Amino acid sequence: MRLKERVAIVTGAASGIGRAAALLFAREGAFVALVDCDEASALRTLDAIRDANGQGSVHQGDVGDGDLAKTIVDGLVSRHGRLDVLMTAAGWSCGGTVVTTDPADWDAVFRTHVSGTWLWARAAIPQMQRQNKGSIVTISSQLAIAGGRSNSAYIAAKGAIISLTRTMAVDFAADGIRVNAIAPGAIETPLLQRSFARHVDSQGMRETSRNRHAMKRFGTAEEVAEAALHLASDASSFTTGIVLPVDGGWLAA
Ligand SMILES: NC(=O)c1ccc[n+]([C@@H]2O[C@H](COP(=O)([O-])OP(=O)(O)OC[C@H]3O[C@@H](n4cnc5c(N)ncnc54)[C@H](O)[C@@H]3O)[C@@H](O)[C@H]2O)c1
Repeated sequence: MRLKERVAIVTGAASGIGRAAALLFAREGAFVALVDCDEASALRTLDAIRDANGQGSVHQGDVGDGDLAKTIVDGLVSRHGRLDVLMTAAGWSCGGTVVTTDPADWDAVFRTHVSGTWLWARAAIPQMQRQNKGSIVTISSQLAIAGGRSNSAYIAAKGAIISLTRTMAVDFAADGIRVNAIAPGAIETPLLQRSFARHVDSQGMRETSRNRHAMKRFGTAEEVAEAALHLASDASSFTTGIVLPVDGGWLAA
């Protein structure tokens, strides 16, 4: 078991990549705190964890709320005495160019992705410093590196996550804390379905996106979860500050 007796937080754990990572981390022995605004779906993730004899807890709320992050981290540390892994996977996108994006949507996307990474790291790092050990896994996107069409707030926020990941990796390397980002390609999740649904020719967009990957297919949430497990566990003990594409060759093609 690669996360035996570890304590992990996964945000966005009710669905898609966060759900798959939470299930895998629990299967690998971690106690997993599941954070999401969708409590009912997060409880279904917890049921699946318990069905597989794993352990976890559900915490409902908005990841852009720094008080929530602190309360959840403090509660976990007082119950379990430690915090080993933070994975920040909560996210959504609104679409639009810089001209068509509503300023309120822009702020909300940045709040979820950028503050939703920063505030959880801010809450988690002091305990990881006390342990002199911890792993933070953030979720960017291949689009932050390659660029993309009509998704400006999301792509800019994903770029900020890469910068934030690198600066945290440098600032806290001496404390035994590793910080790495994953840049997934297009992954079959409700988020991907919703982003295709925004287009008039959603089926055409699906095909274009699928064929943009060298592997000519979409990824699965489980494939991203395996990369997250690698970065969360001691298997990646000399890896920090990287952006790991899990993108079926999107960036190479
Ligand atoms: N699916 C893809 O193709 C793809 C590609 C690259 C990056 N990503 C990123 O991966 C992460 C997971 O996405 P997914 O595809 O699994 O999406 P998803 O929609 O399946 O899951 C996202 C989860 O985040 C939760 N969430 C959203 N905003 C929140 C908030 N403010 N507070 C708390 N919870 C919130 C949702 O309720 C949902 O459960 C996101 O950061 C996304 O941007 C996805």
